[in-house]
Amino acid sequence: MITSLMTRKLIVVTGKGGVGKSTIATSLGLLAARNGLRALVVEMGGQQIATGLFAVEAGVGETKLTENLWAITIDPDAALVEWLTAVGGSVPARLLTSRSSFRAFAAAAPGAKELVSLVKVWELTQSERWRKRGGRYDLVILDAPATGHALALVRSPATYGAIARVGPVAAQIRHVGDLLADRDRTGYVAVAQGSEMAITETLELAEGLERDMHRELDTVIVNGTFPRRFSSEELRRLATLESSGTVGSAARAALFVADRARLQHNQIARLRRQHLHVLAVPFIFQARLDPAALAQIADRLAAG
Ligand SMILES: Nc1ncnc2c1ncn2[C@@H]1O[C@H](COP(=O)(O)OP(=O)(O)OP(=O)(O)O)[C@@H](O)[C@H]1O
Ligand SMILES: [Mg+2]
Repeated sequence: MITSLMTRKLIVVTGKGGVGKSTIATSLGLLAARNGLRALVVEMGGQQIATGLFAVEAGVGETKLTENLWAITIDPDAALVEWLTAVGGSVPARLLTSRSSFRAFAAAAPGAKELVSLVKVWELTQSERWRKRGGRYDLVILDAPATGHALALVRSPATYGAIARVGPVAAQIRHVGDLLADRDRTGYVAVAQGSEMAITETLELAEGLERDMHRELDTVIVNGTFPRRFSSEELRRLATLESSGTVGSAARAALFVADRARLQHNQIARLRRQHLHVLAVPFIFQARLDPAALAQIADRLAAG
């Protein structure tokens, strides 16, 4: 399944807040890069997690993280200004330079910033013919906003396509819409954790994608899973040790992890019952994740 994702032009990664979207998006990028693809991780809204993970300073535009892997941050406000400047010769300069009138414009056209950001993402998936600066990428991985916002984001071409029907703007919107709808070119990945809330949100995302985009989730990555180390007989024996001093603390810790692992396993089963393709990624016991940790995650993703 991961192999099939690697043949696309764009992978959209979303999920509940804080579940590890940026970590997984960057790990997918690393996996692609290791397979010899030129990969670009795109973050939105000023986040700069990917460069932080590789401890490189974020530059203007695309920043190299490692061999074959780059990252870029799209600021939706800046993208809208840039786009209006490029296509809207008739847009008064005052609108673009005054903060308050720009805000008023952006508020009057909800989803416009998101749509324009997607136009930028689409451009990044194109060969250099389309690109004035920067490189050519085989695979773009979009570290999208959290679930509800991500759905609004991928819906925006349809929303605006109904308004702008002709002209260069309509053509751009159509390109973006076609890309997001195309199974061969765009993959959708949900990141979740093995908690009831995160899995419920994932199931809702799958429904929303199906309803609004006629697309399914290619893969659900359940992040931060704990290992199931003990047999039921071992768990029974651990339970008998719970109240015995120092050994008791260790036994309680082991039982706690075993219990969490069991709950995670039950939540993963909810996904499988809906016939979703699931990959589990282990919790990495490290104070700060680094490229070595991402490599471990990439290994797990590759192993399937
Ligand atoms: N497999 C893992 N093992 C251990 N820690 C992890 C793992 N995945 C992510 N983390 C940690 O969890 C935190 C959240 O991860 P991340 O920033 O990737 O989440 P996110 O979904 O992108 O968050 P946000 O919704 O704020 O964008 C980070 O501190 C990250 O280092
Ligand atoms: Mg993030």
